[in-house]
Amino acid sequence: MFRIEYYDSLESTNDFIKNRKNESEGLVIVSKEQTKGRGQGNNSWSSEIGGLYFSILLKPDKLLTILPIIAGYTVLETLEGFGVDNLKIKWSNDILYNDSKISGILIESKILNNKPEYIILGCGINVNQKYINNVSEYNPISMKMITNEYYDLNIILNSLLKNFEKNYNRYYINENKELFELINTKIYMKGEKVNILTSNQNIIEGRIEKINYDGALVIKVEDNEKIIYSGKILKKKST
Ligand code: BTN
Repeated sequence: MFRIEYYDSLESTNDFIKNRKNESEGLVIVSKEQTKGRGQGNNSWSSEIGGLYFSILLKPDKLLTILPIIAGYTVLETLEGFGVDNLKIKWSNDILYNDSKISGILIESKILNNKPEYIILGCGINVNQKYINNVSEYNPISMKMITNEYYDLNIILNSLLKNFEKNYNRYYINENKELFELINTKIYMKGEKVNILTSNQNIIEGRIEKINYDGALVIKVEDNEKIIYSGKILKKKST
């Protein structure tokens, strides 16, 4: 499924692949470093040599609102395969090790008549860095900082793409119950009370219950279930 191109330095793999948006699904752009790596919102993404930075061009024939969760679960499953445990998916785009950020996902798409023209799935993973600039509200952490091992970036990328193909097809062909049960065992702050900043700037307090088939977050507010389609879990205050 994948055609991988490697670069030494790009501004941003997401921006670079956007210029190739007319190509068929499966193009992967990887760069050893990014000089203008982008994160969610207006954040930057620290992209020094040692991390894994790549973007995948996808062209599914229907909207896949679950894609960030499938991508996040794929990162988690892959890193666990390299001995990094205790990872959690923070809805909807981050992978955390305890309360530190090891990976982030940036999905950008163009939708026409309710159908994606293209989707760019950008992913950054902190792998071998010994020091990472802190650009987010969560302290950054790398695989090396956790295990003290050095990792071959290509081996991680190949394993991740293999896992992604499996999970993407599993979801794409039918909504897969087993995959969902697995995903729901890995939710950051599941069962805990959180504040969520919704896309219309309201703050809702509730207890995290699960992630739905469509990628929405289900929380319990008093005795009612509330479904959140887009928003952000606010950072818990350190005590
Ligand atoms: C976030 O957690 O805020 C998302 C970070 C996404 C970073 C990746 S690195 C590869 C791709 N190119 C970019 O400029 N950003 C994404």
